[in-house]
Amino acid sequence: MSRKLPDLISDHEIHLDSLPCELSGAVRWNLVFGADRPLRLEIGVGNSPFLIEVSKVSPDFHYVGFEYSAKRVLKFLKKVERAEITNIRIIRMNASSVLDRIFQPASVDHIFINPPDPWPKRRHAKKRFVSSESAALLERLLRPGGGLSLRTDALEYALLMLEVLDGTEGLVNAAGAGSFSASPAYPFETPYESKFRAVGKRIHYLEYRKRLP
Ligand SMILES: C[S@@+](CC[C@H](N)C(=O)[O-])C[C@H]1O[C@@H](n2cnc3c(N)ncnc32)[C@H](O)[C@@H]1O
Repeated sequence: MSRKLPDLISDHEIHLDSLPCELSGAVRWNLVFGADRPLRLEIGVGNSPFLIEVSKVSPDFHYVGFEYSAKRVLKFLKKVERAEITNIRIIRMNASSVLDRIFQPASVDHIFINPPDPWPKRRHAKKRFVSSESAALLERLLRPGGGLSLRTDALEYALLMLEVLDGTEGLVNAAGAGSFSASPAYPFETPYESKFRAVGKRIHYLEYRKRLP
């Protein structure tokens, strides 16, 4: 039996059908946030305060998170409201279905993907977020010099990410091809990461930059 979730009406949750956009479908983020600042994205926010922590130390950006679980969005919104942060918005959708349309190419400063679902069973591997197609899309969205940060405890998936991202034209591995990074761009531990660490798992960090012209 599914339980109905209470709604939290929050200005921090945005709905694509009511946003100002170009004819192409690209959202006019300067109007959404009321100012023009570089955009940063997190894909698969969960109920993690990661974006809140990052926005506290790097306030001069606009942050857009994606999370398709209604329950996790609700928990995240409560945290944003409590933190009184004004430069974060969350979209309750599958990022894969909209990223290409709602952001202009070369318009994003940084993309964070903190433990993406690992889908460890072979028959589910197609559901993994990181693939050569999504890597090419993320590269296209980043501004030259922009960053892509990923972390995971799942070694097999981490090795696949390394192979795919090292092989993506335009992305440069900050640690050198074939290597994980010793530390992440932002050291804030996410709830999933904490769970994995508590049972002794190692976290693998991947840090990329979009090549400058
Ligand atoms: C392993 S959890 C990590 C959650 C959080 N970032 C953390 O580290 O605690 C992955 C999250 O990504 C969400 N997710 C996975 N694929 C997604 C997608 N394509 N679009 C939006 N959310 C996604 C899942 O619902 C889940 O909450």
